Amino acid sequence: MVTMDKISNLCKSRGIIFQGSEIYDGLGNTWDYGPVGVEIKNNIKKAWWKYFVYNNKSTYGLDAAILMNPKVWEASGHTASFSDPKMDCKECKTRHRADNLIEDYAKKKGLQINVDAMTDEEMQKFIDDNDIKCPNCGKKNFTPIRQFKLMFETSRGTVADNKDIVYLRPETAQGEFVNFLNVQRTMRAKVPFGIAQIGKAFRNEITPGNFTYRTIEFEQMEHQLFCKEDESFAFYNEYKKKALDFLLSIGIKQDFLRYKDHDKLAHYAKCACDIQYNYPMGWSELNGIHHRGTWDLSRHQEFSGKSMLYMDPITNEKYVPTVVEYSIGADRLMLAVLCNAYEEQELEGGDTRVVMHLHPTLACYKVAVLPLQKNLSEKALEMYAELNKHFYCDYDEAGSIGKRYRRQDEIGTPYCVTIDFDTLENNTVTLRDRDTMEQKRMTIEEVINFVENLLK
Ligand code: GAP
Repeated sequence: MVTMDKISNLCKSRGIIFQGSEIYDGLGNTWDYGPVGVEIKNNIKKAWWKYFVYNNKSTYGLDAAILMNPKVWEASGHTASFSDPKMDCKECKTRHRADNLIEDYAKKKGLQINVDAMTDEEMQKFIDDNDIKCPNCGKKNFTPIRQFKLMFETSRGTVADNKDIVYLRPETAQGEFVNFLNVQRTMRAKVPFGIAQIGKAFRNEITPGNFTYRTIEFEQMEHQLFCKEDESFAFYNEYKKKALDFLLSIGIKQDFLRYKDHDKLAHYAKCACDIQYNYPMGWSELNGIHHRGTWDLSRHQEFSGKSMLYMDPITNEKYVPTVVEYSIGADRLMLAVLCNAYEEQELEGGDTRVVMHLHPTLACYKVAVLPLQKNLSEKALEMYAELNKHFYCDYDEAGSIGKRYRRQDEIGTPYCVTIDFDTLENNTVTLRDRDTMEQKRMTIEEVINFVENLLK
């Protein structure tokens, strides 16, 4: 069975994900992507961009600044209401989210509780009535629930006592809203059209383990669709389907995905739904689809004093477009991809093979070139150079061939090419399939065509 410990150990040992600032004992829930991990994550982002930007004629890309005018966050409502209900344990000084304490308690007791719909007072009463204790020290001596701001503050300006507060953006979406008119005018875009962006976001959250699932720094991939109000619910349903289809297209198993409507709506949302993935810790949010109405554009119109009206070129009707948002964390998706791909296979002789069944487009290396013996290195390096012109390859001549196959299986390399003495004679190699372990003899040109076809 796949556990989060198995995934995180594999990630650490195979250069996929390391603890952030590890030599200084880390910094709570920050993670660094290693040489293999950065490729997988980049491939995930590329697949997303291809699906949502390149394959949609009326979606435009954007890369907005992380630091924005603080008025943006007043307009968006984040300054006033972007917070979590926190409690501190007075005994062991650990900080907890009240909603998480209740959820964990309910899970243990098998209770059906909708914590999202509870007020702070209701949560406080539930914790008191059920005598919920600190999960760290087992005592019950909490501070009352307080709303804890999630936006990271920093400051700009060089004079020490005259600094302006600015925020690290807690979502990329606002960059898309404040650039609505820039994109619409410069691209001569007609509603309905989309703006998509991939970038870092930051939230000062308490992060209760689960590896990279909830971090204080993460990347979002967001798509805002600007449309007419009367078409917006149809688009909302279309994006629910598109979001699911994208996940299936990169190899996520359907059985591990489900829709979950929000019980409690964010301040901006008219209706909202998550797609959840069945992670090792249970069903949890992977991405969100939100009907944001005209909230964002209207608020930016109000706070900036700039008109956000769009004029229909055919009817001359003027209106503030409605927004349907689709948002997914690249890191959270990568975690789902890794959990989804992981398999332990019992082999004859009692051996276990760990294999990551990554979709070929997501795998770090598409092919690993392995000379059977060291004295075949020259030919093998020649083959490696040729293949590497077409797709990213690995080269490995260290250790037994069996061990080298295993290393590649563990990082999800879909194919290994073995170079032997026949290669010197006729330029043919053995292509070994990661999933079936079947081997076929073919020329290097056939390998290139075969792999390129898979990556189309
Ligand atoms: N613009 C809307 C928005 O930000 P959200 O539900 O707060 O909505 C969207 O976040 C997605 O971003 C989530 O579904 C999740 O994939 C990812 N995400 C949010 N907070 C995260 C965190 N602390 N760590 C990793 N990913 C996160």
